[in-house]
Amino acid sequence: MKALVVYDSAHGNTRSVAEAIAGSLDGVQASSVPVGDFKPDTLAAGDLLVVGSPINGWSPTPKITALLAALGDGSLKGVKAAAFDTRVRMFIHGDAAKKIAHALKAGGADIIAEPMPFYVKGTEGPLRDGEIEKAGSWAGALLTSLRS
Ligand SMILES: Cc1cc2nc3c(=O)[nH]c(=O)nc-3n(C[C@H](O)[C@H](O)[C@H](O)COP(=O)(O)O)c2cc1C
Repeated sequence: MKALVVYDSAHGNTRSVAEAIAGSLDGVQASSVPVGDFKPDTLAAGDLLVVGSPINGWSPTPKITALLAALGDGSLKGVKAAAFDTRVRMFIHGDAAKKIAHALKAGGADIIAEPMPFYVKGTEGPLRDGEIEKAGSWAGALLTSLRS
């Protein structure tokens, strides 16, 4: 089994979260992959796909949206999946992770965790205190779901 953490990132914050998740998937062959380098046909049933995006105007970035739109019905059949986003802490901030999870499910993936938000202090970051540790904990929860 392998795990790919696919991300888009303008300022490096989502990349940092993706790297922390991949680095905390102990015992799994895990790597973080920029969205432009991701090839869905490298995933097999039982593998883990995590997709993360900054929220851009209440949605995933255009590159993540294009990736999700290109997934055919059932192309992720048997793949385990989870989604996260990075966002600012505002009264109204929209959501990207839920949209990503919905698209992954539509592609046939088995969603193994609730979509997870990670918070930045401003448009360019940095991440709020504790978010890298939260990414590690979330990866641990993903591992638990994978093995149950
Ligand atoms: C064009 C644009 C639109 C954004 N829209 C939102 C938004 O709707 N909600 C939100 O919480 N953050 C929004 N943000 C802030 C981003 O979520 C933040 O820049 C991102 O988490 C930083 O991640 P990155 O360093 O990986 O690019 C927006 C940022 C940009 C540049």
